Amino acid sequence: MILIVGGAGYIGSHVNKLLVKEGHKTVIFDNLSQGYKEFVRWGEFVLGDLANKEQIRHCFHKYSINAVMHFSAFAYVGESVIDPAKYYLNNVAYTLNLLEVMREFGVNYFIFSSTCATYGIPKEIPIAEKHFQKPINPYGRSKLMIEEILRDYDKAYGIKHINLRYFNAAGADLDGKIGEWHNPETHLIPLVIYAALHKNDGIRLFGTDYPTKDGTCMRDYIHVNDLADAHIKALNYLISTNKSDSFNLGNGTGYSVREIIEVVRKINGKEFNVIESGKREGDPPILIASNNKSMDILSWRPQYADIKTIIETAWRWHTR
Ligand SMILES: NC(=O)c1ccc[n+]([C@@H]2O[C@H](COP(=O)([O-])OP(=O)(O)OC[C@H]3O[C@@H](n4cnc5c(N)ncnc54)[C@H](O)[C@@H]3O)[C@@H](O)[C@H]2O)c1
Repeated sequence: MILIVGGAGYIGSHVNKLLVKEGHKTVIFDNLSQGYKEFVRWGEFVLGDLANKEQIRHCFHKYSINAVMHFSAFAYVGESVIDPAKYYLNNVAYTLNLLEVMREFGVNYFIFSSTCATYGIPKEIPIAEKHFQKPINPYGRSKLMIEEILRDYDKAYGIKHINLRYFNAAGADLDGKIGEWHNPETHLIPLVIYAALHKNDGIRLFGTDYPTKDGTCMRDYIHVNDLADAHIKALNYLISTNKSDSFNLGNGTGYSVREIIEVVRKINGKEFNVIESGKREGDPPILIASNNKSMDILSWRPQYADIKTIIETAWRWHTR
């Protein structure tokens, strides 16, 4: 059985759906602080908090767990600067609780939701896994700390892990039952869709004079179902090789903020408010993944690489 910690959230719920579809048994462990019971449509559910080791133990007693996928974390970069303790507690200290219980129960496979934020301001684009990791905010540092802890835990205790460094997760499952639902929302594609649907006062452009083709930041958007597929491939790889490793998950293509706005404008067929604002501190101009390693070693191929398709699935979910 696979334990999906944080499986009531955006990415975890999509991974859960695919795992069950491919014949795995799953149990979701989530405190529903950011996730939704409505997203737990497959597998078993345990309402629990990683802060509470007894609740984790109870879950490991009740279910026969072979591998853990760990999605639960706080993930607001700005908030992590204002309140780092909140991030180091939930993302680092409580992850240690999970790893402790894994050791107690002899569970040795761990798939970790890491992030391109561990690279900080990149020196080279596209960013390969061997690029130096120098995060510039507590959120990114909390994720890098876990990567480092995992390296030590592998050597000392034999816990084998895969760090999956996501770029910008986007889109929604095609059945329209699960999708991106963060509260508050800070991700670009849902915010542009909200602007088009007049659910906010317009979309803010943070910086228009970056050294990019149209002056706005460029990011690599990866469909959430492609992320899900990569998790299954990573798990199979981990079990068959018993080797820890790290992989980038992105499409290897960047789109500017203006390009994303244009795609939504075309889907919507109407104008909406675009508000030009100043740059935000610490926003790198361009973040694009090199996904060669994931393609070569995991034999992973993104199926929804086209940005229009990605945004259409998100649009369908938000307008459902
Ligand atoms: N969304 C992205 O673009 C993106 C990019 C890079 C990395 N990530 C990482 O991927 C992971 C999943 O992201 P998401 O967008 O699905 O987030 P999400 O907020 O939708 O899901 C996280 C889930 O974890 C649960 N959770 C949080 N703290 C918990 C705790 N102490 N105990 C039990 N459950 C807890 C929440 O209730 C939620 O269901 C996160 O670790 C995030 O840092 C996301």
